[in-house]
Amino acid sequence: MSELITMLGCQRPIIQGPVGEMNSPRLVAAICEAGAYGMLALGFSDADRTRQLVKEVKSLTDKPFGANLMLLNPNNPGILEALADAGVKTITTSVGNPKTVYQRIHELGMKGLHVSLSLVHAMRAEEAGVDGIVITGAESGGLRSTEPESTNMVLIPLVVDHVRLPIVAAGGIADSRGYRAALALGAQGVQIGTRFIATEESTAHEKWKQAIVQCGDGETILIPLKRMNMRAVLTPALKKQMSEPGFDLTGRYRLEDVPKAWGTGDFDLFPAGAGQVSALIGDIKPVRDIIKEMVSAGI
Ligand SMILES: Cc1cc2nc3c(=O)[nH]c(=O)nc-3n(C[C@H](O)[C@H](O)[C@H](O)COP(=O)(O)O)c2cc1C
Repeated sequence: MSELITMLGCQRPIIQGPVGEMNSPRLVAAICEAGAYGMLALGFSDADRTRQLVKEVKSLTDKPFGANLMLLNPNNPGILEALADAGVKTITTSVGNPKTVYQRIHELGMKGLHVSLSLVHAMRAEEAGVDGIVITGAESGGLRSTEPESTNMVLIPLVVDHVRLPIVAAGGIADSRGYRAALALGAQGVQIGTRFIATEESTAHEKWKQAIVQCGDGETILIPLKRMNMRAVLTPALKKQMSEPGFDLTGRYRLEDVPKAWGTGDFDLFPAGAGQVSALIGDIKPVRDIIKEMVSAGI
């Protein structure tokens, strides 16, 4: 049994990636029931909301599940206690310095994997005392760096060679081929974002799911924000706007508009977030079918 599987306490080394603050207890539970590790996305939540979400997930599954903490959230101390009280054993942390929070995570008897975007980032997290790394390649959905980035084919083995912790690969994985490739490159597991948005159990708006299903090769772009970029679907409408004289992506979209835009399917307000792997996703499926196919080679 790998160190990662021991940490997660589930059957398959497949972790649900947090997507903003989109929380569907039904999706988390479906992922756990299929043998993988469902996760709440706590973003800027607080302890009360965490307790409520945990209760809802526990009413649907008795399998272990985790949560992602955004390290810029001032409510994290209360959230951590709520998670520890609920018996959550392993969490992930994103966006921010892990040094500050890992001492507390360990005092509470929990373990954590830190989401990193580069080798340097991963090595710093190891020094800060994290228990594992989720390494996310340039192809992945979500916030990306404004610095040049490597894709997972290079990044996974690079981080495996330099960091002595369990490595989880995130970005570009939607089926058994991507899953097996990530394990072959040395990762102990995978984290999935985009594929789980386009599922029956996801609460994502139907227009968001369809934007992913219809997205083809080369049809995502990086939307420039203040200090980060966000990967999003390049829809035919956005492509047309971008071809108009004087159109400038810089400063056009605001991160504050994301919840409303994605929640209502208003992609003029902010384009639909998704990874490059959208090109491989052609339908909306139940989670159990996705995970069953992903592990069909028996690993
Ligand atoms: C629309 C969208 C929003 C995301 N938001 C977050 C987030 O708030 N925090 C985070 O750590 N990761 C976030 N991610 C990254 C995912 O958790 C996951 O690592 C990533 O999607 C993996 O790549 P994939 O989309 O190719 O599967 C987001 C991903 C997507 C697609």
